[in-house]
Amino acid sequence: MNPFLDVALDAANEAGAMLREAFDRPKTISYKGEVDLVTESDKRSESIIISKIRSRFPEHAIRAEESSPRASDNAKYCWHIDPLDGTTNFAHAYPCFAVSIGLVEEGEPLVGVVLNPIANELFTAVRGEGAYLNQRPIRVSPIEKLATSLVSTGFPTHQRANNRNIYYYWEFTMRSHGVRRDGSAALDLCAVACGRFDGFWEFGLSSWDTAAGMLIVKEAGGTITDLEGRPYHPGDRSILATNGKIHIEMQELASRIAERSATALSLLGNS
Ligand code: IPD
Ligand code: CA
Ligand code: CA
Repeated sequence: MNPFLDVALDAANEAGAMLREAFDRPKTISYKGEVDLVTESDKRSESIIISKIRSRFPEHAIRAEESSPRASDNAKYCWHIDPLDGTTNFAHAYPCFAVSIGLVEEGEPLVGVVLNPIANELFTAVRGEGAYLNQRPIRVSPIEKLATSLVSTGFPTHQRANNRNIYYYWEFTMRSHGVRRDGSAALDLCAVACGRFDGFWEFGLSSWDTAAGMLIVKEAGGTITDLEGRPYHPGDRSILATNGKIHIEMQELASRIAERSATALSLLGNS
């Protein structure tokens, strides 16, 4: 067993068990921004995961959503941790959220683990070794055209008024079988990896949202870039993840929408 995957699984399973139990109880919610929620469970999950990783790999760097970054002299390995991706869903008892743990080696994802503790779905990948859902190999969908695709996106909880994604949402809805907005970027990426969604895009995600899921998509045969077609790195401004077959079509449509939405936003005084 890969020792990095081993610790990521141990951490995800323990944090997931805690979240599953906390899901049915009343939540203590506080706010990091106008609609940016955080619960006690986000923090408890993060401390479970960080203590597991620190005890096995004390020399590794850590970037986790609810704590300040933990640098290291040996920056070869960095863990990107979202202890609860889908906090708004969790807080409203909508059972769509995940623990997301990604290990990046010198800028390249090496291990990804995403666990939905309510559905009991565990997505895993190690670079070069394929992607798995509950230990069974997964592949992206074979769909060839956007017109017959189901795609997904998300909206950040910060700077809502300046977000041009509503234009993308409208256009992609008109040109596909539909656009889902499920509220967990990590699970959106895993849904692309196992062929439930054919594509996913979003703006403004952080490295902890995507480090694990992007590797799972790649290892399942998918394609990841930013929305302009450049190589994507965890934390970049935009992400486009697809089954590969509809990638160029989504990217070209995104470029056309970018031009039109820039004009619309400038008319509204929000450039
Ligand atoms: C959020 C989710 C959501 C995405 C937001 C993220 P959080 O993460 O991934 O799907 O649209 O941009 O911030 O706050 O629930 O960890
Ligand atoms: Ca997140
Ligand atoms: Ca989170």
